[in-house]
Amino acid sequence: MSLTADQTSAGQPEYGDAQYPFHITKEEERQLRLRGAEAAPSLVIGQATSFDEYARQLMIPPAVMDLARKAEDLRLSAWEIEAMRKHLAPATAPGEKVGLLRQILVEKYNHDKTHPPYIRVACTGRGDYDHLAAEHGHLHPDDHPKGDIGSPVVLEIWPAQHYSPIHSHGHTTGIVFCLAGQLDVMVYEHLDWDARKLGLLTLTPGQCAWLSRDNYAVHRVYCPMDGGGGSTGPGYMNASADFGASFHVYLNPEQTGVEDEDEDEDEDEDEDGDSYSRDSFNYIDEESKEQRPFATESDLSWAILRRVLANTPLT
Ligand SMILES: [Fe+2]
Repeated sequence: MSLTADQTSAGQPEYGDAQYPFHITKEEERQLRLRGAEAAPSLVIGQATSFDEYARQLMIPPAVMDLARKAEDLRLSAWEIEAMRKHLAPATAPGEKVGLLRQILVEKYNHDKTHPPYIRVACTGRGDYDHLAAEHGHLHPDDHPKGDIGSPVVLEIWPAQHYSPIHSHGHTTGIVFCLAGQLDVMVYEHLDWDARKLGLLTLTPGQCAWLSRDNYAVHRVYCPMDGGGGSTGPGYMNASADFGASFHVYLNPEQTGVEDEDEDEDEDEDEDGDSYSRDSFNYIDEESKEQRPFATESDLSWAILRRVLANTPLT
């Protein structure tokens, strides 16, 4: 798996002169990585090697630690990663048939060019593009009429050089566990285009970031791997099969086992427009720079994708 073409000798991504996706200079990147490494509570869950780090780890809520502990042995197998690469690969000649994941990227790209697309796979429920699997011979077309929202467990597939808008996970409690490749996560103080950046971190397989109502609920995710050329930004579509993958869990407030007198479960949003549940999150539109809600529909269901991957010849 190769890293991005414009790597520095230190192996860090080069963000250039305040360009996409984070709009920061190289010096700002250095400062934000330092800030991320010193953040309290710690942005990444791990075994402490210093007293200071132990204190930062200790401040991570028990509900988050429980999610992380249950996820710590998860990995994608070598054949799953290889099959995903095959389905993400771009066409090598005009008109050449591409795999299921590239097909979904193209559909999403045609629908929304404000940021490069990524793929959300629901581990429960159905996905909006499950019907495309029928064309690959893996699904009866009548099986999946419509997608669902609000799966508590989601696999996200991040094509190299693609990224999400800035978004908030509202009042949910959750984890972002890296399964494959490499993912950069920028954490923001609140949901706003100009929000203060709290820190930048790079996740590699086995590393786990987290979020709760009170900490790190707002972020942007980016895959810094080799996109096969071109500069990322609105309207960008990569030309490589490289990707990062992450496993996400989102618990609604009533599911964390922690009593909270502030919560009113009858409401969908609080006065700040923060979402209470994983059915809908808010994001900052990359063009208007305004806040919008999005229903958390997924693109595929894991049951379908697993079947497609298992039936993919790897030679
Ligand atoms: Fe997120």
